[in-house]
Amino acid sequence: MTHKIIIDTDPGIDDAMAILYAALHPDIEIIGMTSVFGNVTSDIAARNAIVLAERAQQAIPVAKGADKPLVQTPNPVSDYVHGVEGFGDMPAQAISAQPVDEPAHEFICRLINENPGEITLCPIGPLTNIALALRHDPSIADKVKDVVIMGGGLDRGNVTDHAEANIWNDPHAADAVFAASWPVTMVGLDVTTQVICHPPDFARIAAASPVLGGFLNEAVQYYFKFYESHYGVLGSQMHDPTAVIAITDPQYFTIENHALEVIVDGARIGQTIRSADPSRPKHKVPMGVDIDGVKQRFLTMIETGF
Ligand code: BDR
Ligand code: CA
Repeated sequence: MTHKIIIDTDPGIDDAMAILYAALHPDIEIIGMTSVFGNVTSDIAARNAIVLAERAQQAIPVAKGADKPLVQTPNPVSDYVHGVEGFGDMPAQAISAQPVDEPAHEFICRLINENPGEITLCPIGPLTNIALALRHDPSIADKVKDVVIMGGGLDRGNVTDHAEANIWNDPHAADAVFAASWPVTMVGLDVTTQVICHPPDFARIAAASPVLGGFLNEAVQYYFKFYESHYGVLGSQMHDPTAVIAITDPQYFTIENHALEVIVDGARIGQTIRSADPSRPKHKVPMGVDIDGVKQRFLTMIETGF
């Protein structure tokens, strides 16, 4: 089965891992990418999405999206995690293509309307474009095949004790996405923090695949420094690629079903919680993961690249 996916992204080191995994996967067709602020500005995110598509030798249209959250004052970009240009210490990369002339939320709605029942939305950044798309054309909720998100976590945060970065960067957008009646899988910190790749893993993919694995290995060195200084672990939590792997390999995950909501103010802003509101739909929340299965799936896919 081919998965037609739209990746909404703020590349970002682990976004690059997710996008290259998806680009190489024989059962995934990336039919578009959309940029969002978060790890970097939306302009840099659009450029970096094109960098990744060109490096993978794929002609993927990229639409520029939101550069600020729906309601709250923007948080600073996460350059201390991903580097000023998004790929660690690497300087800005040149591109040949340019973003398409259509705002991300309209691009998302158009593609879903042109491919009813076929598109999996895969947001791996703040959910602003996705909330704007729902607002622009609520009928997409009935036409999308699946919405598989990297974000949130039921009992943990990363950017604060309570909040995961993507949700914290636009909690109002995330709450609107969880309130909608469409099939959401929230691949959150409950599973993504368990999947960690270490320097020898990246050395392995760099040796096997200099162009793509080598690129990731170079970028991830900055991520290693962040994780070592913040968590005392020399390794990379595999947030965004774990979400894409949940599309192709759901068998690696143990799923719970919960109605979800997001705390939008106060000390716990950005926290994703189980909702008691009976009007909210239940969504899928992976809470267990076959750590080695996901790791090897990722590493093997990049190794077979070039
Ligand atoms: C998420 O936040 C970003 O820093 C990563 O790219 C990932 O999408 C992890 O909390
Ligand atoms: Ca991301």
